[in-house]
Amino acid sequence: MRIIEAVDYEDMSRKAANIISAQITLKSDSVLGLATGSSPVGLYKCLVERYQNGDLDFSQVTSVNLDEYKGLSGDNDQSYRYFMNSHLFDHVNIDKIQTFVPNGLEADSRQECERYDQVLADVGRVDIQLLGMGHNGHIGFNEPGDFFHMGTHCVDLAQSTIEANKRFFATEEDVPRQAYTMGIGSIMQAAGILVIVSGAEKAGIVAEAFAGPVTPRVPASVLQLHHNVILVADQAALSELKKRMADL
Ligand code: GLP
Repeated sequence: MRIIEAVDYEDMSRKAANIISAQITLKSDSVLGLATGSSPVGLYKCLVERYQNGDLDFSQVTSVNLDEYKGLSGDNDQSYRYFMNSHLFDHVNIDKIQTFVPNGLEADSRQECERYDQVLADVGRVDIQLLGMGHNGHIGFNEPGDFFHMGTHCVDLAQSTIEANKRFFATEEDVPRQAYTMGIGSIMQAAGILVIVSGAEKAGIVAEAFAGPVTPRVPASVLQLHHNVILVADQAALSELKKRMADL
């Protein structure tokens, strides 16, 4: 794993945007695995600026998103489809037909998971998968559990995730209790993985994920087994990991 230390959130966003920009520049028809949450907002802003400056062309890019709340339509301003449109897709020249997000409105979980796995098979290997990390070490919506899920599945969100994400909703009751997420197996198939983390409140989980045992109890720990992971994190988020690595 390569670790790139950033000063703060802005610096993390720029450094991560450099990596995604290089990917698109070197391979115009890249398949990007994309993420939502607060972590990538600054990165998407940088990508939009670079597109507006004429430095990036998204016309041949395909994207697959990690996850979506079950029960929310793409028009709902808390859905991840809405997030992607408003933070990135509406502002660059990507072909929306080539942007894929699980369908939160499909009530039949089995059908939606099979459909999304087929989408992933059809788009081919993800060139670079962007990941944020939840406070409990979740990636996408792969919550801590007894085993690593391979393919797309419907998850019951952990109470800590509901609490962490309630800031985006009017009340905690409005936070959906379930979500569709790409599986760990699919995430691990990406050619490269770019993890972005910021803030002192994630320092402990970053250390557990990257210097602790590989366990489904900390889903992000599986990334230790991937051959091409870049972690771009600010000093605050890296503080515990650096201490642990110094002790090794
Ligand atoms: C959500 C998303 C994850 C994201 C995580 C962290 O639960 N499903 O993909 O990584 O939140 O979010 P944030 O970046 O806001 O801390």
